[in-house]
Amino acid sequence: MDTLAGIDRQRITSLLERETAEYLARHPRSRELAGRGARHWLGGVPLHWMSDWSLPFPLHLAAASGVALEDVDGHRYTDFCLGDTGAMFGHSPPPVTSALARQARRGLTTMLPGEDAAVVGELLARHFGLPFWQVAQTASDANRAVIRWARAITGRPAILVFDQCYHGMVDDAFVRLDRDGQVRNRPGLVGQAADLSRHTRCVDFNDLPAVEAALRTREVACVLAEPVMTNAGMVLPAPGFLDALREVTRRHKTLLVMDETHTLSSGPGGYCRTARLEPDFLVVGKAIAGGFPCAVYGFTAELEERIRGVMAAKPPGHSGIGTTLSANPMAMAALRACLELVMTPAAFQHMLAMGERLEDALESLLEAEGLPWNVQRVGARLEVGYSRLQPRSGRESVAAVPPLLPEAIRCYLLNRGLVITPFHNMVLMSPVTPAAEVDRLYSAWAECIRELVAFA
Ligand SMILES: Cc1ncc(COP(=O)(O)O)c(C=O)c1O
Repeated sequence: MDTLAGIDRQRITSLLERETAEYLARHPRSRELAGRGARHWLGGVPLHWMSDWSLPFPLHLAAASGVALEDVDGHRYTDFCLGDTGAMFGHSPPPVTSALARQARRGLTTMLPGEDAAVVGELLARHFGLPFWQVAQTASDANRAVIRWARAITGRPAILVFDQCYHGMVDDAFVRLDRDGQVRNRPGLVGQAADLSRHTRCVDFNDLPAVEAALRTREVACVLAEPVMTNAGMVLPAPGFLDALREVTRRHKTLLVMDETHTLSSGPGGYCRTARLEPDFLVVGKAIAGGFPCAVYGFTAELEERIRGVMAAKPPGHSGIGTTLSANPMAMAALRACLELVMTPAAFQHMLAMGERLEDALESLLEAEGLPWNVQRVGARLEVGYSRLQPRSGRESVAAVPPLLPEAIRCYLLNRGLVITPFHNMVLMSPVTPAAEVDRLYSAWAECIRELVAFA
């Protein structure tokens, strides 16, 4: 029998065909809007990723509130995708929308600080334990800025990333470690003229000897990493890996940048605060302003002093870091409301409890059905992996993902009013995700799996 992750390929194909036909029949208005959009948008959508859901045409939404979505055909959904993290705290959290409404009448963008600035600085320091901060428009921007500062501070040209990482639209990070041990530009990149391997080292996550070997040359300004890889399925750090990474970066005077854009799901201070890891730079984007476009990066007092030194010593002219709209008063108002009133310990207590609830249920299901899959979780964020053992590297994780099966499960769930993330079947819990909806997601997932297994 031709199987994918332990399931008959033919059965997966049949289920996907049936569910796709159902999707087609249920969404005439989405189909009509997609047709109209195709006349003026690339791929029919204002951001070409929006057509990456493996659906015949994108679902068009009428409204999103809390974890409730309503599409233009009047169907209702519970959202476990949450904008692939931007809406981690639910769509339009009331404290954030009130703050935005208040600020909207008092100026949208000014390129000057207002009354919220000092308060937000204090809140960021209190949440994440780093004393100095800057605001960017997106996590991609923040990562690019941090790489530039790290190079300027250390005077070193290179950075190190982990194979299969994703840190946003950050050219320096778009490399891959090939099987022959060579670092090359990632396949699929468009319009990239530079050989990115000149200044980017790339090793496997959890491979400390490889990190050590790369840093020994003293050319690496910073390691840019997520504490848990969340963009190649999910890869947890092996016990002791992150502490060893911290030690080896310190020893080689390489800065450690932790990108907590997704792992903010761990708690109000992110994964690093929970794990007592002390990065030099910390980046958080997406959900940090409750879904309003904004990102922040923090750094130590020592780095602040070194940055000031760099700025004082440089010739006059543009630093090349920063964008006009960053830290606009709307973003600052949203940041303040989110940090003060939304990202509370109580909110995270509920999010983590919901994550654990689904994890326990799915693990029991996989065991009962004898499926060689695994469940990984970082706080409120959870993924099903398609190998018996949990992966140790991005490559292992990605290699285990079977074709068609994630798409089939996703479409099955969507047709039953449950939305999970398209890119890697991620499930995220918000402070307003009801336990009953978590149970409904589990039941539908279980029914889908039982249907596939029963077929086999
Ligand atoms: C870990 C991580 N960092 C940064 C980014 C970039 O975020 P944005 O697309 O909001 O710039 C992403 C996006 O998925 C991400 O997963």
